Amino acid sequence: MNIDFHAAANRYSYAGREAQPDWIAVVRSLIDPAGKRVADIGCGGGIYSAAWADLGAAEVTGVDFSAEMVRTATEKNRERTNSAFKQGDALATGLPAASVDIVFERALIHHLTDYDACFGEAGRLLAGGGRAIIQDRTPEDVALPGSPEHIRGYFFECFPKLLENRAGTTSDARGGRARPAPRRLRGAADRHGVGNAQTP
Ligand SMILES: C[S@@+](CC[C@H](N)C(=O)[O-])C[C@H]1O[C@@H](n2cnc3c(N)ncnc32)[C@H](O)[C@@H]1O
Repeated sequence: MNIDFHAAANRYSYAGREAQPDWIAVVRSLIDPAGKRVADIGCGGGIYSAAWADLGAAEVTGVDFSAEMVRTATEKNRERTNSAFKQGDALATGLPAASVDIVFERALIHHLTDYDACFGEAGRLLAGGGRAIIQDRTPEDVALPGSPEHIRGYFFECFPKLLENRAGTTSDARGGRARPAPRRLRGAADRHGVGNAQTP
């Protein structure tokens, strides 16, 4: 069962933590965020938009198709004057062409099926020399402890073997979203000129 990102009850599902030091270290090893214009697509509650802003990005634009997520991200980042959030689809964000230096997509790709449209849009948004950084969900995402904001965690506490499937690399027989095959992603990225996409 997948979370309903549009439900008001879930609006804080992806807002209750901070980017971890190891994430920051990986990002810094890939790119210097200082002064960059970043589009955080599928931004959820803006956890990583906040991290990019705090790492010195010039501008961060978070985009999410859920109005509830956009509301939460806006609320949580109210004091970050270099951040803004808007509702939009990852496949057609509505942002201007060639307007960002970094397209960042975290824990989004497994919700999409049309990778060509996804990377086509990323390529359209990137200014010359820009980079796409695509990160799938991590085992830590999946294994968040059970709480009223993260009900799924209770299932995994009771049935830990399910975690192998949810965090896994192939199919998800229970109707959840499978992790996409890297070769398919790479092929779509290459076709749309973002072949230097990094996948931490
Ligand atoms: C698992 S959450 C990850 C949120 C955030 N990137 C993070 O890592 O904390 C996935 C997010 O992608 C958004 N999303 C899913 N499909 C989308 C689409 N087609 N266009 C834009 N946002 C989408 C959901 O609303 C949700 O906020």
